[in-house]
Amino acid sequence: MMYIYKAAVIGAGTMGSQIAQVISYSGLPVILKDIDKTAVDKGIGAIRKIYQTRVDKGKMTPAEMEQKMALISVTTGYEGFIDVDIVIEAAIEDMEVKKKIFSELDAVTPQHAILATNTSSLSISAIGAATRRPEKVIGIHFFNPAYAMKLVEVIPGLATSSETIDDIVAFAEGLRKIPIKVRETAGFLVNRLLMPYLNEAAFVLQEGSSTVRDVDASMVSFGMPMGPFALLDMIGIDVAARVADILYDSYGPRIEPASILYEMAREGYLGTKTGKGFYDYTDGKDNHLDPIIKRLQVEKGAKKSSYSADRLLLAMINEAVMVFQEGISSVSDIDIAMVTGTGFPQDKGGPLHYADQVGIDRVLEELQQYKNDLGHRFWPAPMLKRMVGAGFIGVKSGRGFFVY
Ligand SMILES: NC(=O)c1ccc[n+]([C@@H]2O[C@H](COP(=O)([O-])OP(=O)(O)OC[C@H]3O[C@@H](n4cnc5c(N)ncnc54)[C@H](O)[C@@H]3O)[C@@H](O)[C@H]2O)c1
Repeated sequence: MMYIYKAAVIGAGTMGSQIAQVISYSGLPVILKDIDKTAVDKGIGAIRKIYQTRVDKGKMTPAEMEQKMALISVTTGYEGFIDVDIVIEAAIEDMEVKKKIFSELDAVTPQHAILATNTSSLSISAIGAATRRPEKVIGIHFFNPAYAMKLVEVIPGLATSSETIDDIVAFAEGLRKIPIKVRETAGFLVNRLLMPYLNEAAFVLQEGSSTVRDVDASMVSFGMPMGPFALLDMIGIDVAARVADILYDSYGPRIEPASILYEMAREGYLGTKTGKGFYDYTDGKDNHLDPIIKRLQVEKGAKKSSYSADRLLLAMINEAVMVFQEGISSVSDIDIAMVTGTGFPQDKGGPLHYADQVGIDRVLEELQQYKNDLGHRFWPAPMLKRMVGAGFIGVKSGRGFFVY
């Protein structure tokens, strides 16, 4: 078991500064590095703001805040890296940039140091291959905002040692996070399950089956903290389209991205950051998408499909079953990740507990119905048929994904 006395974070942007804040808050010294002074100053400013909010809320004193701030040092070089035990890289999402950073880190950090990356989509194995210690390279995927989100996904690459996995899990727990181990797969766990759900909402809209407000209202009444369109607007339509592309590239037609995402990106409807996305934050009229929807309906010859909250949930549940049958994660980790990472209603336990409550037989039937009506993206995960065949149909038979 390795003790971690000192950490470093590469990149002082949105995620890097949040991660450095989380580390300092746990009481560990941390170096924050970026390419120039403006960038590190911005990062420190962001961290100060996070702490100041805690002070304003009476959750810590100004003196405590200064103690925590004193744990953070900044650099644009590699001073202080000679005795770090772990580095978390959160620079831009670019493989060449990350490979260069990791080969430099390999040279300036002690042999025992863990080199971790916060990448959302790049291969951990490929990043590891840029070093002479791939057994020490691992993915640690934080969620935005890292100071509030408990979940972190831990993703070993092909060469990562089990010791490194154990060490980073312990490190994450020391930060008071909930680490979930995930085998390397496009989108990891949370984004791989969330995207089919969000994408299905986009299909519902472009097929004219429901409205932005009604879909969001139905998911909020199911218990989600916000509806899929409000969430997409926060994520950014350009970012969502890129994630959808990455998943499509890996999983094929099952995750065919809804065309409306590209159309919106082209029009500059990128969500809250541009004032218009699925919602119009400038005048609240929300009719700016009508021409796009009309055009898509003509182009795609879309017939009005039916909408129910189930349609979105089934897309997520089916992907969860795929993830389970591929051995990416355990059933309980899948559920914990979706509750802590996306706000899936806790009283429903997560997508797989929810499937057990609905009944695996009904889940399978509904998926087959949607497959017939809407196409192959609803092709049921083979595991569901095996379960139904064996009488593992959920709560009502005492056994489904879980035992009751
Ligand atoms: N934004 C999110 O919601 C989110 C969530 C999880 C993971 N991620 C991942 O985290 C990483 C960072 O994302 P972000 O949103 O914080 O990006 P960002 O653009 O806000 O910050 C990136 C920072 O990295 C710096 N940088 C670029 N090249 C560098 C180098 N060679 N050395 C040091 N610093 C360098 C930039 O100056 C910038 O300050 C990406 O890999 C991203 O995929 C992002």
